[in-house]
Amino acid sequence: MNKAEITRREFCASAGAAVMLGSHALAEVSQEKTKPVRIGVIGVGGRGTGLLKVMLSLPGVEVPVICDINEANLNRATEIVKRIKGNPPEGFSKGPHDYRRMLQRDDFDAVLIATPAPLHAEMAADTLKAGKHCGSEVPGAYTMDECWQLVKTKEQTGKRYMLLENYCYAQQRMMVLNMVRKGVFGETYYAECSYIHDCSSLRFKPDGSLTWRGEVKRDLIGNLYPTHSLGPVSKWMNINRGDRMTSLVSSMSKPAALHAYAVKRFGKDSDPARLKFRCGDMSVTLIKTAQDRLITVYYDSDSPRPASIFYLIQGTDGVYDSRSGVYIEGKSPAHRWEPVSKYQKEYEHEYWKTRGDAANKTGHGGGDYFVLSDFVEMARHDREPFVDVCDSATWSSVMPLSKKSIEKGSASVEIPDFTGGKWKNA
Ligand SMILES: NC(=O)c1ccc[n+]([C@@H]2O[C@H](COP(=O)([O-])OP(=O)(O)OC[C@H]3O[C@@H](n4cnc5c(N)ncnc54)[C@H](O)[C@@H]3O)[C@@H](O)[C@H]2O)c1
Repeated sequence: MNKAEITRREFCASAGAAVMLGSHALAEVSQEKTKPVRIGVIGVGGRGTGLLKVMLSLPGVEVPVICDINEANLNRATEIVKRIKGNPPEGFSKGPHDYRRMLQRDDFDAVLIATPAPLHAEMAADTLKAGKHCGSEVPGAYTMDECWQLVKTKEQTGKRYMLLENYCYAQQRMMVLNMVRKGVFGETYYAECSYIHDCSSLRFKPDGSLTWRGEVKRDLIGNLYPTHSLGPVSKWMNINRGDRMTSLVSSMSKPAALHAYAVKRFGKDSDPARLKFRCGDMSVTLIKTAQDRLITVYYDSDSPRPASIFYLIQGTDGVYDSRSGVYIEGKSPAHRWEPVSKYQKEYEHEYWKTRGDAANKTGHGGGDYFVLSDFVEMARHDREPFVDVCDSATWSSVMPLSKKSIEKGSASVEIPDFTGGKWKNA
């Protein structure tokens, strides 16, 4: 074992000691809940502004600096901080790398990044190198090099990194986490998850030119948004903490929906209707794990249809399927689904029992509240988060690796071990 590997192992050992979202973590939260945490924000578009508002409602949070290249967005965020906290933050908006000038200041502890997704990894690495903890919007990275860069920079700097994967924290998904950990479904061996959500209107600006979301659909192929789907099932299956993803195969239908959308919105002879999008509409990825378990991931973010974001976990004693309900062998009526609500009281997660009311006032089914609360506590206590840098690299790597598999005719491709072997001991 070389020195770099040993260091990576030591660093990822913290993953095993990560906050496991239980009463112990909650007790710590209440002990020091008002110790100030100073957070800078990069990117205050739709998402960054929403997160900023929730974050400012958490105890002890201060926002002394904000960066956005769009002055209107920056001013809007500045006004929000001024209204809630009394003092305006200092703003940074002098071009795409002005965030680095912001990072040079030494009067804040952590940075929340909510810029366009292709910028996340570089900004996160720069944040860690500047000696600040980092919370990154999803996905964490776009390329394999970026995935490794995140893991290594985290290791080298000793700062904390959290992927702000809010979908892990929704009420029912945390209840299922509890059920899995209590062995209700027996030994688990198969999961399904999806991100099927029509975002076609977000691909174009009103004049028909592409937004950054449109550009990635034009230029890339595969599953371009894997973490919302993979996050919850990876937590249920102890990925990186007892098991790990080892390989995947991926396939993709042809790209048709975005062209059809452009014709409907801008006309058949318009420039947008002449654009070629490389990314197919539905991609399906099948992931194999070291413990011979399987995960199927569905991704379609442009077909005209209502959203369908579903999750399934199957074990030797039963199954949870967000579309159908729960079935537990020997407890549920034979061959019959039961409503999930029947198990709510018994298996409600501690987070939701104690802070569900506050969470329910925030977006994404309350996930935004808990993901930000965990991010703030990570920075306040300088400790590893629930969704750490190895999770971010592993889940985000499904994007470049699904592309690689599709380009090789749906061949199997290897998923690297970002934990450096630590997953075995967790
Ligand atoms: N977790 C979730 O549920 C969720 C929901 C929505 C979006 N997101 C993620 O959040 C991120 C932001 O999404 P959005 O909808 O707010 O996008 P957006 O385009 O509305 O906002 C991005 C903001 O970043 C700013 N920006 C761009 N380049 C910059 C730079 N170099 N320096 C500083 N600021 C810069 C833009 O001016 C804009 O204000 C995306 O990565 C997206 O994937 C996550």
